[in-house]
Amino acid sequence: MEILSAARVGKYGVGAFNTNNMEITQAILEAAEESRSPVIVALSEGGLKYGGKDLVNMVIDMSKSATVPVAVHLDHGSSFESCLQTIRYGFTSVMIDKSHEDEETNIRETKRVVKAAHAVGVTVEAEIGRLGGVEEHVVVTEDEVALTKPEEAERFMAATGTDYLAIAIGTSHGANKGKGRPYIDHQRIVEIANRVPNPLVMHGASGVPQDVVARLNAAGGQLKDATGIHEDDVRKAVTEGIAKINTDTDLRLALTMRVREVLMNDPKQFDPRKILGPAREEMKRIVKERIEVFGSANKA
Ligand code: 13P
Repeated sequence: MEILSAARVGKYGVGAFNTNNMEITQAILEAAEESRSPVIVALSEGGLKYGGKDLVNMVIDMSKSATVPVAVHLDHGSSFESCLQTIRYGFTSVMIDKSHEDEETNIRETKRVVKAAHAVGVTVEAEIGRLGGVEEHVVVTEDEVALTKPEEAERFMAATGTDYLAIAIGTSHGANKGKGRPYIDHQRIVEIANRVPNPLVMHGASGVPQDVVARLNAAGGQLKDATGIHEDDVRKAVTEGIAKINTDTDLRLALTMRVREVLMNDPKQFDPRKILGPAREEMKRIVKERIEVFGSANKA
């Protein structure tokens, strides 16, 4: 995908934001357009199951009419079949995630997807190493986390022809990324980037804004010890080779926080537009903030 190659060369990041419905998609696209930033709209298998073909059609349609470059991406594809199905739907990018298998299986399955995807001009993300937290189809405990080895990354890219590579460097999925400021292994990013010229991908990159968490809890939520990746770590990572930055949790938090606030402050409210409209605005604000941190504003 050209928007990621340009990002790697230009030392900035492009956000890949997960969507599950119209409001989230609008927030992502409107924020990207107002910031003049390229953007990636990501759907996971869980999102596809939730929204079905209607959601897919809507997201692809909305992306096509955007005035900035937009890629529609499958996040954490668990199988060749799932990647193929989304390619048929019209996705422009897919991730095959066999990072939980052994190296040989990961290479073999990724190669299959690369061959099929490249034949129709679709680009592929794969992953090596293991992040902590709950992913679409796997739960990884703290003991099972395995940071990506630079030599393995080089070997994997040469063997598979993958376009961009997700690496484990200390981030994790979800709203609890560790006590205090989670440690990010910048040296490892640099070493991987020295061996792999392709765009690198940071999963689990949400900032988990503390003001949003505080408001969510004040409105009846019960999120304990919520922590995210410090924005200085993200700013640094994009200068080191990270070009695609995945964000899901921040939008979930923003949506839930505003829905809770609206319903708490106005218990008689039952108009979905008055409930989801403010949530959409809040998500848009968050996407714009993220775009500033990633450095992709005015790169469209
Ligand atoms: P967060 O949970 O930090 O938003 O990460 C999302 C992600 O990496 C999706 O692939």
